[in-house]
Amino acid sequence: MATLTHPTEADGEQDFTRLPDLPEDVFTAPLQRPEHLGEDWLEPKQTVYSSEDDAIWHDLFERQMGVLPGRAASAFMAGLDKLDLGRSGVPEFAKLSKDLGALTGWSVVPVPMLIPDHVFFWHLANRRFPAGNFIRTRETFDYIQEPDVFHDVFGHVPMLTDPVYADYMQEYGRAGWKAMRYNRLKALGSLYWYTVEFGLLQEADGIKAYGAGILSGPTEVVYATEAQSPNRIMLNVDRVMRTDYVISDLQPTYFVIESFEDLYRQTVERDFDRLYRNLGAGFTYANTAVIDVDNVVHRGTLEYTLRGGRGSGAQPV
Ligand SMILES: [Fe+2]
Repeated sequence: MATLTHPTEADGEQDFTRLPDLPEDVFTAPLQRPEHLGEDWLEPKQTVYSSEDDAIWHDLFERQMGVLPGRAASAFMAGLDKLDLGRSGVPEFAKLSKDLGALTGWSVVPVPMLIPDHVFFWHLANRRFPAGNFIRTRETFDYIQEPDVFHDVFGHVPMLTDPVYADYMQEYGRAGWKAMRYNRLKALGSLYWYTVEFGLLQEADGIKAYGAGILSGPTEVVYATEAQSPNRIMLNVDRVMRTDYVISDLQPTYFVIESFEDLYRQTVERDFDRLYRNLGAGFTYANTAVIDVDNVVHRGTLEYTLRGGRGSGAQPV
């Protein structure tokens, strides 16, 4: 039986090419693996999309192009260009992987749905990005619960053309091994949420978005970069990993990085052993909190959140 042990070996000795065992006492979402999939959870091949699927991709793409210029990080816009991420329909993962591979050594691999944390970490640690195979319908055009191919490919893959960001994502995957050993996946998940999904970047001409959760929808990109409601705070990894987040609404707080080099340095050089030893099982800070140590870029009014957020009909101002 696998048991939870505190790490004794240096991370340099860890074999990241082997799928890690998930210790039985680590808490993670119980996901049922579809019968036709192996332990890697990869689909044998990508879905064949209908012309309506391709039309949905096209329309989603065009909608984002109406809001992203000037609000998305330049690295993201450059990535879209480099990969020629299609107005013509859902990209072929094989072609995308070839182009992305030539740039940063990453590939894009099809998965049916959300996959278990340890499998996700394993793919990232080996520079494979698991992307949802299915695409949303017209009925769920504006909002979906589970990430589809548009969120995963349009939102995440352009950033993987940036060499430093590409290294950060691999390091994030590797960090999963340690988080599992300490049973602190929730804290590491918070780091993913506030960087990879909802991260902001300070550029010379203002604050831009690089997080896929922001960049794959039309509302949050304007709200995250321009609205008065949300707090915008410079990223501090220790603080972020103690902070709760919102899953199905706009965030009350965003964290801003100076550069991708800074993000990489903050995470790779951080002593996660010490951090995990000092972390409780739950979050210390509410997602609306501004605390003494924060380097605050914008103190939000929290109006949208206080009026009740999505459901209440509040405007994202
Ligand atoms: Fe995502």
